[in-house]
Amino acid sequence: MKRTVITYGTFDMFHVGHLNLLRRASNLGDRLVVAVSTDEFNAGKGKRTLIPFEQRAEIVRNIRYVDEVIPEASWEQKLDDVKRYGVSLFAMGEDWIGKFDFLSPYCEVVYLPRTEGVSTTELKRSLNQFCSVSREDILRAFDVIEQLRNDFS
Ligand code: CTP
Repeated sequence: MKRTVITYGTFDMFHVGHLNLLRRASNLGDRLVVAVSTDEFNAGKGKRTLIPFEQRAEIVRNIRYVDEVIPEASWEQKLDDVKRYGVSLFAMGEDWIGKFDFLSPYCEVVYLPRTEGVSTTELKRSLNQFCSVSREDILRAFDVIEQLRNDFS
């Protein structure tokens, strides 16, 4: 009998930590189902994504380790999903350790190691810094303009 693994996540700004997690999860069974959180579900948690749901789902669906993508639209759906998809193993990153042990009467529950040094939160922070113009940059630009004005007057 095929062993189905399920995992959940937002997968915004898809990065190598996501890829490693999906590889590790798929290695634990024969078939990997990934529940990608919807924009509405994230909004309810006060979380805004950069990439809309349809695109995040499309990216995850096309990862070679993934067999099926379903929407994650609520906290409560997990037990239903486990039953509906005949899940043998529920896998989550270790940032969720202990949070889903209530599923263990129905399937194996495993927390997988995270990849160090990368996260969507970190990427958003870097993007902010990358895009922000410092006060020094503005003053330097004024100096250059002033210089050009002098050169051409
Ligand atoms: N994940 C991981 N290693 C990372 C980042 C994420 O293994 N460096 C795992 C998480 O533990 C989770 C899955 O990837 O099981 C999806 O995580 P998600 O929350 O979408 O990604 P994060 O980068 O952790 O996003 P955020 O910073 O917004 O929490």
